[in-house]
Parts: sequence; C-alpha cells; structure tokens
Amino acid sequence: MSTILQAEGIKKAFGGIQALNGASIAVEEGEIHGLIGPNGSGKTTLFNVITGYAQADAGQVVFRGQQIGLYRPGRIMSLGIGRTFQLTRIFSRLTVLENMFVPSRDGFGKTLFGGWASHADRQRAMELLNLVGIAKLAHLHAGNLSYGQRKLLEIATVMMLEPEVILLDEPAGGVNPTMIGHIRNRIEELNRNGVTFLIVEHNMGFVMELCDHVTVMHRGQTLDSGTPDKVRKNEAVLDAYLGD
Ligand SMILES: Nc1ncnc2c1ncn2[C@@H]1O[C@H](COP(=O)(O)OP(=O)(O)O)[C@@H](O)[C@H]1O
Ligand SMILES: [Mg+2]
Repeated sequence: MSTILQAEGIKKAFGGIQALNGASIAVEEGEIHGLIGPNGSGKTTLFNVITGYAQADAGQVVFRGQQIGLYRPGRIMSLGIGRTFQLTRIFSRLTVLENMFVPSRDGFGKTLFGGWASHADRQRAMELLNLVGIAKLAHLHAGNLSYGQRKLLEIATVMMLEPEVILLDEPAGGVNPTMIGHIRNRIEELNRNGVTFLIVEHNMGFVMELCDHVTVMHRGQTLDSGTPDKVRKNEAVLDAYLGD
C-alpha cells in the first residue's frame, strides 16, 4: 500500500485556542481509516484543514505527492478528495435528486436543476442513490428524509465527483442502529470499489469493526495510530477519553 493522503505537523489556532498543535495523519490507499478522540480534540478542524475549509498555521497536507495546503475547497474536491459535514449540508426544499447537482458541492459547476443535467449525469445520480439505498426517494423533497437518510444522501452527493478519498465527519452520529448498519455496509461496498475512507466517529463499535487503521487525537495532537486492536489496548487512549 502507498500513502494517498498525509497531513504532517498541522497547527491551527482560533484566537487563543490551539485547536491543532502538531497533528499528523497518514492515510494509505484503499483503507478505511478512523479518526477518533475526545470532543474538542481537533478532528473536525483537521478535516477542515485537509479539505481547504481552514488554512493551517503550520504543517503540510499532501495528496498523491502534491502539496494541497493552500488550495481552496473546490480545487481539492476536483483533485479527488470528497467530504461530508458533521451537520449535513442537504437542501430540504430541493428533491433528493436535485441535491445531487448542487453546484456548491460540485467543483465542475454542474447545474442545480436535474432537468438541465445530461442524461448520463442523471443516470449516474440515480445509480448512486440506488447504491446508498434511497433511489425510491429520488423525487421527494429532501426535507422529508430521516437523519440517517440525509447522511446517505450526502455520501451519494459526494460520490458524484468520483473522489478517490472520502472524509466522513460522524456518519453514524444521531442515527438509529439499523441505519448505522446500512451506512456501514454502504461504506464497505464503496471501499471494495476502490474508495479510500477517513472517518471521524464517536461510535466505538462502528470504528473498531469498520476501520483497518485508527488514529487517535488528543488536545490537537496525534496520540496514537495503528490497528484498532493496538489502539484499543493503549492505556493513554483510555486516559484521554476519561480525562476530558
Ligand atoms: N471556528 C472556530 N472558532 C473558534 N474555535 C474553534 C473553531 N473551530 C474549532 N474550534 C475549537 O477548536 C477545538 C477543536 O475543535 P474541533 O476540531 O471541532 O474538535 P472535534 O471535532 O474533535 O470535536 C475546540 O476547542 C473548538 O472549540
Ligand atoms: Mg467534530
């Protein structure tokens, strides 16, 4: 395996808060990589730095050997890194299918309205909705979706750009157990099709069963990184959770 995405020595302060204080992570091509750590340890900030939504004060972000630390979100997306947000960015008053063509998530500037998209694009959108299991809901307003279905829709919208790496911020958060199982199966299937994942998640069962590799953050730094088994046995990791 080779490293597809790497962040090294990332620092980021917000006013007096040192959100990241030298955090590093290396994601290997083809793996499902978990990013865990107590609340406030800097996971979302690291996602924001990697995807161009925040600029680091120090450190490097490298994707396939290319420095991307100064790139804007749209450029990073078009290079092949997709992401979802802790609070989903779904448009309630658009249909599920229309959400698949929202330009703000679309580095190539496709049209908002499904009707203007090419037949091939619509077909691809429907295939992806089918893949995440919500194709039957394509013509409903997205506001009618359950929280879990929104998360699935957001994953499908990200897939429209055919990313090589997808960053998911708490895909199982606030989702019922049946839906969590479904989301997990979808991630595994996409991974079998070659997509690399980096996943922030608080549900430990989800992380430990799904991930090949886990990186643990604590106070803006990387506390540990390794197989789920290795990380689970590290007492410093347990202490970090109990201490915060
Ligand atoms: N935009 C921001 N402005 C000020 N403080 C922020 C901002 N984003 C994050 N922080 C702070 O940075 C720290 C890390 O936050 P975050 O990356 O969201 O952690 P996590 O995702 O691990 O819960 C927290 O103390 C948080 O309050
Ligand atoms: Mg977060």
